[in-house]
Amino acid sequence: MINIFLEDDNINVKVPKDKSLRYVATKTGASMEFGCRVGDCLTCIAKVKSGMQYLNDKNEKEIRALEILASDVSGLRLMCQCSVKADEGEIVISYGF
Ligand code: FES
Repeated sequence: MINIFLEDDNINVKVPKDKSLRYVATKTGASMEFGCRVGDCLTCIAKVKSGMQYLNDKNEKEIRALEILASDVSGLRLMCQCSVKADEGEIVISYGF
């Protein structure tokens, strides 16, 4: 299980590999918001403050969407497109910016 800290809601949760961040947000009652849920609307943008290496890689669609908002997208993710790819580690996410 990997530890995920949802900073804006002060939620700490252990998550098994392959779970989506949308599932995590829904199950924990986090205030993270979702719209389209398919990577089009950018509602679920978040900053991964640490642990990006424990998430699935961005696909081309997500990269293109993020680049609409920022030139440096290295720390940004769309939560509806993220899932956990590791069994151990810690991820810190902020989404209230
Ligand atoms: S909910 Fe629309 S991009 Fe994630």
